[in-house]
Amino acid sequence: MEQVLFRHNRPGRAVTFAEYAGEGGFDALRKALRELSPDDVQQLVIDANLRGRGGAGFPTGKKWSFVPRDLPGPRWLICNCDEMEPGTYKDRVLLEANPYSLVEGMVLASYAIGVRNAFIFIRRGYETAAANLRRAIAEAKDAGLLGENILGSGFSCDIDVHVSAGRYICGEETALMNALEGRRANPRAKPPFPAVKGLWGGPTVVNNVETLANIPAIVAHGPAWFKGLARIPEASGTKLFCISGHVRNTACFELPLGITLGEIIDGPCGGMLPGREFKACIPGGASTPFFTAEQFNVPMDFDAVAKAGSRLGTGGVVVFDTATCMVAATLNLISFYARESCGWCTPCREGLPYVRWILEEIEAGRGAEEHIGMLREHVQYLNYAFCPLAPGAMGPVEGLLRLFEDEIREHITLGRCPFKRSM
Ligand code: NAI
Repeated sequence: MEQVLFRHNRPGRAVTFAEYAGEGGFDALRKALRELSPDDVQQLVIDANLRGRGGAGFPTGKKWSFVPRDLPGPRWLICNCDEMEPGTYKDRVLLEANPYSLVEGMVLASYAIGVRNAFIFIRRGYETAAANLRRAIAEAKDAGLLGENILGSGFSCDIDVHVSAGRYICGEETALMNALEGRRANPRAKPPFPAVKGLWGGPTVVNNVETLANIPAIVAHGPAWFKGLARIPEASGTKLFCISGHVRNTACFELPLGITLGEIIDGPCGGMLPGREFKACIPGGASTPFFTAEQFNVPMDFDAVAKAGSRLGTGGVVVFDTATCMVAATLNLISFYARESCGWCTPCREGLPYVRWILEEIEAGRGAEEHIGMLREHVQYLNYAFCPLAPGAMGPVEGLLRLFEDEIREHITLGRCPFKRSM
């Protein structure tokens, strides 16, 4: 399978600047600055149908095209590397192996959008990735690939690495901008979308690490090649799938978009752990509703996964075996979200701890039939939260109710968790 993002990887260490450059790295930037206009670069990304890899799958070139061309004043590019969705670690793996594709992709994106200063907003714990990026930025500057008058083209661009203060909400793009401005990191209302009014009120494109790291290959090889990497015609490119849970190989794999869930589990994951049987999985990070074995044939692409009742999200696949209590698994996830609520809006601040309490009661054997209805109501209520944190948090709860209602009811009728031995 052709690798785009992991193409330059070396076992056990990061690729060096010389190795990356020697394997065609920065050729796309040279080509763009010599032969292509900013609009040409944007059009290549539109034609490639590159969809955002941070979780939402919004078309990248379209997002860029929303940036008003005629407004005076600066516009900004932010790379969102505040990767904190449980089950998701792809951006860390990518940057620990190769920071250069991101740096090159950010200069290309900045050229297309007309950005002079770009930021990488990185999760506090990602120390190796941040060190790699700082080194890559310094090396690119020394080589004239970043900074003033890049490669003599007249285009100038700088990249700053900003380390997050360390809350989940900082990864929400508008909260991220508040954090970058030094304000309390609560989300802002959308619209206006950041592409129109973002950082310090200026047009701002926020793209994920994996999204931006794909840009050099698209510029170098063209949209048709990029589309051809996917397994199905509706999809484009590869995807980093990061796997955890009860399979043999838990790692981050670069695979063609459109590969089926069953192929991922039986192929690179090496199947289930010995003696374990598949029960369910989270297909795309903790905010996505569960899949069961019935979805093994679903192509892992944005629209196909949505059609099957979940979301491709970040590509963070968490696999559960038949010994897993789905109530306990959901409680574990909701506890994370309840803790990470920023407290800005009432539905999220009050609703998530309440949902956590209901699940705790059920798991502890103190559940009542009415709790099922209350959970169902909260799946609806929390859609009224201010930002996507609470609706996302309710993704697994919605999946629990739809797919495992019998298991919830069993807790209630037994008065204990059926997966724990009785006292
Ligand atoms: P969203 O759908 O609101 O927006 C996606 C992107 O498209 C944003 O950049 C937004 O500004 C832009 N956009 C959407 N409509 C637009 C319009 N009409 N005009 C201009 N721009 C527009 O989704 P959101 O809230 O940004 O992200 C949610 C996703 O994030 C979830 O699917 C979840 O999977 C993922 N996520 C990822 C995390 C991680 O660690 N990577 C953490 C938490 C959530």
